[in-house]
Amino acid sequence: MAGLFVTFEGGEGSGKSTQMARLAERLRRAGLDPLVVREPGGTRLAEAIRGLLLDPGAPVAALSEALLMVAARADLVASRLRPALDAGRVVLCDRYTDSTLAYQGGGRGLDAALLASWNRAATGGLVPDLTLLFDLDPELGLARRAAHGGANRLDLESEGFHARVRERYLQLARAEGSRFTVLDADRPADELAERVWSAVAARLPVSSV
Ligand code: TYD
Repeated sequence: MAGLFVTFEGGEGSGKSTQMARLAERLRRAGLDPLVVREPGGTRLAEAIRGLLLDPGAPVAALSEALLMVAARADLVASRLRPALDAGRVVLCDRYTDSTLAYQGGGRGLDAALLASWNRAATGGLVPDLTLLFDLDPELGLARRAAHGGANRLDLESEGFHARVRERYLQLARAEGSRFTVLDADRPADELAERVWSAVAARLPVSSV
């Protein structure tokens, strides 16, 4: 597999989606054609699952939530991510397996080993080359999100839930230091964009930058 697989992770309102769009733009200026997707979503099936999962009016049991996140991922990996990576493209994915480990594992308290094995089954073992973790105090992130409106079902979870998500992300990053780059999401956007670029550029084949 010749492409480069980069995932963006973090809590609500961490600015990761904005940074992903900036990176995509910079890659395009460098003459590359990145595939840009978000999870859950990116295929017809996964977008339908997204609608079910994020609707604040429709409660979902924790196990069902986890299984549906993983089902959406299996479809996205098989139909879009693997083909793009096989074709040598850069793939930018807003959330991936670590979101399930942090939200359904840390947040909901589901068994970490079980979730990891579902992730492996759904992705066929496709692990990101680089994971950018936008770390932010959840109180700050949720305030930012509230200011922009449009809270989804998970945004509405308790403070404790979001604190556990953050803690689990940081644990994951400590356990896999070479895959993760942890960024302080409270820094100015331009500074973050530079940090993101240097982490990604270091992993691009020399000929492409
Ligand atoms: P979204 O509005 O895209 O949130 P954000 O902008 O914060 O990425 O909604 C995605 C939500 O789904 C987000 O609250 C995190 C949650 N999620 C999980 O709980 N588990 C998962 O495996 C994934 C991919 C997302």
